[in-house]
Amino acid sequence: MKQIIELITMELEEAFEKAGYDRSLARVTLSNRPDLCEYQCNGAMAGAKTYKKAPIMIAEDVAGHWESGICIVEAVKPGFINIKLDEGFAANYLNQMAADKNLGLETSEKQEMIIVDYGGPNVAKPLHVGHLRAAIIGESVKRICRKMGHKVLGDVHLGDWGYQMGLIITELKKRKPELPYFDESWQEEYPEEAPFTISELEEIYPTASAYAKEHEDYRDEALHATWMLQNGNRGYTALWKHIVRISVNDIKKNYEKLNVEFDLWKGESDAQKYIPDMIKGFKEKGQAYLDEGALVIDVKEESDTKEIPPCLIQKSDGASLYGTTDLATLIQREADYRPDRVIYVVDKRQEMHFTQVFRAAKKTGIVREETQLRFLGFGTMNGKDGRPFKTREGGVMRLENMIAEINEEMYKKMAENRMVDEEEAGNTSKMIGISAIKYGDLSNQAAKDYVFDVDRFTSFEGNTGPYILYTIVRIKSILNKYQGQGGSLEGLQCTGTGTAGGKALMLEVCKYNAVMETAFAETAPHKLCAYIYDLANAFNRFYHETKILAEEDKEKQKSYIALLMITRDVLESCIDVLGFEAPERM
Ligand code: ARG
Repeated sequence: MKQIIELITMELEEAFEKAGYDRSLARVTLSNRPDLCEYQCNGAMAGAKTYKKAPIMIAEDVAGHWESGICIVEAVKPGFINIKLDEGFAANYLNQMAADKNLGLETSEKQEMIIVDYGGPNVAKPLHVGHLRAAIIGESVKRICRKMGHKVLGDVHLGDWGYQMGLIITELKKRKPELPYFDESWQEEYPEEAPFTISELEEIYPTASAYAKEHEDYRDEALHATWMLQNGNRGYTALWKHIVRISVNDIKKNYEKLNVEFDLWKGESDAQKYIPDMIKGFKEKGQAYLDEGALVIDVKEESDTKEIPPCLIQKSDGASLYGTTDLATLIQREADYRPDRVIYVVDKRQEMHFTQVFRAAKKTGIVREETQLRFLGFGTMNGKDGRPFKTREGGVMRLENMIAEINEEMYKKMAENRMVDEEEAGNTSKMIGISAIKYGDLSNQAAKDYVFDVDRFTSFEGNTGPYILYTIVRIKSILNKYQGQGGSLEGLQCTGTGTAGGKALMLEVCKYNAVMETAFAETAPHKLCAYIYDLANAFNRFYHETKILAEEDKEKQKSYIALLMITRDVLESCIDVLGFEAPERM
């Protein structure tokens, strides 16, 4: 379905033209003065100079040529055109939305292949709150793209190939030198069972990392082990596979708790095989040059206002770098999926890295000129003290502990007046907990830092996930009670409400397709949050002002119920795209 605003614009263009003015003046926006009107057009003001007429005269001309029934227009001084939607038209629009499986949202004209690169956890290091934002925002971006009808693949892009692997191998060798992985003469198969558990692995890495900082020989050994692994040492490769497998199992469990799912579990290691040919190509085509022994690609552009250093491809000792891997990953993605768009959801402190990689990829022809490479950088999640979020003891907060803490908080809140059994209360508090975490994050513009405030995020009042869920549950409960009174939810039509609160709610619901399109065009989940907050407020106002279940006029009641159903559907569609869901009751 066309957006309401487009429909009004089309009618207004006609009126401008009939009145003898240019159609392009008919630009419609949401009203700046919702107390006076719902939409507005300032075209008469804009046209005053061209037509050498007072704006109000133009506005009156246009209003005089208005013939459409979809809204009421009014010319007001000094020359605004105020617009109010006809309630019957809005009701009809809602009924059409309700009858459409996509709730009136038209999918994008051209279906794109989109890869969303988010997550970026590093193998053998526990997921911590720093990974939370990538997961939450990336998951939502992926779902928004999918909602718009695109083919989308979410890729976790594991950090599974760096120095941390060498560190773990070195530490294991120190602790268990008898393992076959370290026996160069070992010919047989290696054991299937890993020689460590996930908790050992998580202890090994920080220990090794700290030790290497103090001990040069150890660090050299770890660097050498990294090199051996990267050059195909058989024992180290077998050990590496254990590390990745054990770690990925654990990482998956954590993402599951957050309702985050990846289609691709690729890692930096998967890109390595493309590197030698890539570098050869750069050299042959003269795209890269040696600078003090290092191979680099120049990515400066004339319009740059700040210094953009060259993209480093290979260090003088032959080692490749983070950028090399990202370029090779683009080759692999181009070969496997030929994406039209790749969206990277990564900490905004990596912006320079991505500017260099994107430019190098375009310049060397790794991706096509028309391929969109988009960096969606996010800010830091801070504690109430305004510094990066930590545990009470000041350590790095593990993701699973944080989730558990929030769930417990929700459980406590629910225990106060709950009527459901233990199991349901447990599940429900998890659902609400996730909404608190995700909404708390997504309701901020991604690039901004934000304060993770447990008390505020878990509150059932205000701009929070639990408030949204509470609203949905309230609607569901009214619908259940309506059915309990013998009402049927089949075939209901909205015919309007006749109240200001009802009209305001209808208008909000009607905006759904416009908001989703904007959220996609701007890669901005926070716009969806702002929308459902307004929508939930509009519903709650309507609910408090209106007798719904006690309404005696049955036809009127049916119209209310139809409005409630579409409100629920729109809210549920939005939270699904944000990556959480509502319980049946709470
Ligand atoms: N593993 C990286 C880190 O911890 C993030 C990866 C982001 N994605 C990418 N394609 N570089 O910083």
